[in-house]
Amino acid sequence: KNIAIIMGGYSSEYEISIKSGTVVHQNLDRSKYQPYRIIVTQDKWVYLNDEEKEFPVDKSDFSIALPEGKIEFDCVFNAIHGTPGEDGILQAYFELLEIPQTSCGHYQAALTFNKRDLLSALKPYNVPCAESFYLNAGEIVDEDLIVGKVGLPCFVKANRAGSSYGITKVYEKEKLRSAIATALKEDDEVIIESFLDGTEVSVGVITYKNEITVLPITEIVSENDFFDYEAKYQGKSQEITPARITKDQELQVSKLAEFIYRTLKLKGYSRSEFIFIGDIPHLLEVNTTPGLTAESILPQQAQAAGIDLENLFGSAIEEALR
Ligand code: DAL
Ligand code: MG
Repeated sequence: KNIAIIMGGYSSEYEISIKSGTVVHQNLDRSKYQPYRIIVTQDKWVYLNDEEKEFPVDKSDFSIALPEGKIEFDCVFNAIHGTPGEDGILQAYFELLEIPQTSCGHYQAALTFNKRDLLSALKPYNVPCAESFYLNAGEIVDEDLIVGKVGLPCFVKANRAGSSYGITKVYEKEKLRSAIATALKEDDEVIIESFLDGTEVSVGVITYKNEITVLPITEIVSENDFFDYEAKYQGKSQEITPARITKDQELQVSKLAEFIYRTLKLKGYSRSEFIFIGDIPHLLEVNTTPGLTAESILPQQAQAAGIDLENLFGSAIEEALR
């Protein structure tokens, strides 16, 4: 089967996505799948062969013209973080073309990638989360109003971004404006959340061999002030799997993560972040195209569950083809 591994994307997470896609490319079972690296950028979409030669992708049917003939794809393996791979745009495109893909549907991607809309959608189900305040680019910043709602310290985040791009932990009211400006470089919407002071855990929920499966839970211990880009990708954190939490906490957060997966009708991979306040897990966000790099959490969790990368990726393709 011809598998297009799409990677790159239009956001700051480009480099991370290339690393994720490369890991997928290196770990597909070649006896079943013929992988093609497809690099998606704002300027061009290209197939990159093993000699690093580029061939343009025909966007009208997502095919490539090679000297030996036209290649069409049986399945798309989505390794793009951020827009347009994690926010529903490419999901909708492949749905229109009727090409199976490993990620969730376009609506689910758009909803989960928007932190504000995700948390609002889960509110009626009483999913605990931080106190939050929302701003669009150009709106008046009333620091007293914001601090009155979320307190200090607080987190200022780009509403639609990943890998901690655009995130600042703010301790003083006077620093809010510059933090908002930082977030606005990544997105034109900002979410400001109260600081939740507790143990942070990451919970992978995937469909594996036809079953919705909660992977072993990872505890995040950042050496930096929070789990920022450096902590995530430059070794400035400890990621402990299984997390050092109580049985009851493990049960609570697994149930909640699975509930979210089922309720939102997710598909393929997901990785959700929570912070425990006492025994109650509070949801930060849901990632539907989680990182698959050597530093990323989901592959570590799969390995802790005894699932090697070849099976992890193969299972996603089989689910997409079903
Ligand atoms: N956004 C990054 C890639 C992650 O969730 O792992
Ligand atoms: Mg994220």
